[in-house]
Amino acid sequence: MTTPQEKTLIVANWKMAPLSSKEASKIFTALRSVGVTLTKVETVVCPPVIYLEGLQKNAKGHRVVLGVQDCATEVERRHTGEISPLMIKNMGARFVILGHSEVRARGESDETVAKKVALALKSGLRVILCVGEDERDEDGQYLRSLKEQIHGSLVGVPKSALGGLVIAYEPLWAIGEDAKTSDTPEALFETVIYIRKVISDLYKKDIAMKMPILYGGSVGDTNAEGFLRDGGVAGVLVGRASRDPQVFSAILRIAEEVGKKTIS
Ligand code: PGA
Repeated sequence: MTTPQEKTLIVANWKMAPLSSKEASKIFTALRSVGVTLTKVETVVCPPVIYLEGLQKNAKGHRVVLGVQDCATEVERRHTGEISPLMIKNMGARFVILGHSEVRARGESDETVAKKVALALKSGLRVILCVGEDERDEDGQYLRSLKEQIHGSLVGVPKSALGGLVIAYEPLWAIGEDAKTSDTPEALFETVIYIRKVISDLYKKDIAMKMPILYGGSVGDTNAEGFLRDGGVAGVLVGRASRDPQVFSAILRIAEEVGKKTIS
């Protein structure tokens, strides 16, 4: 039997949608009905935190689990409006997305991301840490900014906690409605090797080789297969397409097929 870590991780980042719990429940039920049938895929749905409790009632088992899109830098303090990683854990969610570019764009520093990563891991959540360059340049400067971002986002994160860490590589130029293009599986493969090298230099080679790395940025049912088969990744983080049950279900089924060929 495979453990969840050995499965392909398909993560749905619903962002700030849908606008009602009824709609959230409808989408989740549809995704779940496909996710629970898959043996090679772990489906992680990250709704707005306000829907967590309602959806959690419907998320028994380990094939389809819930996550959130951010958390606080403290477990318990006077942080009006923030959500503690322990609250998330106690609610039954297993994952938290941290350092998403849309949160970073609202002023979140690498230092804050690193604090959240360390605390969420300590709280027993699995962390999906988003990293990615703003733009690509011909002479490879973007690799340096990627390295600096990874370093900065992991300051103070102990080696012993890294078993719970997943990296999501999400180049900004490939994310969201304004994206002109997504990455290619071939270019992604190279970047994934580079990310492993950065992690290896920072911690240890065996940790870097085992760390799940996901790709995110305009993933849909037409390009998921290429990324999963040839991109060297352990899964994908899906934004817009994850709110469309038909498209997301197609991605889940593609991941299952690719997983059958590659995961023993
Ligand atoms: P997208 O978003 O799939 O809509 O490009 C990905 C993300 O922001 O995580």
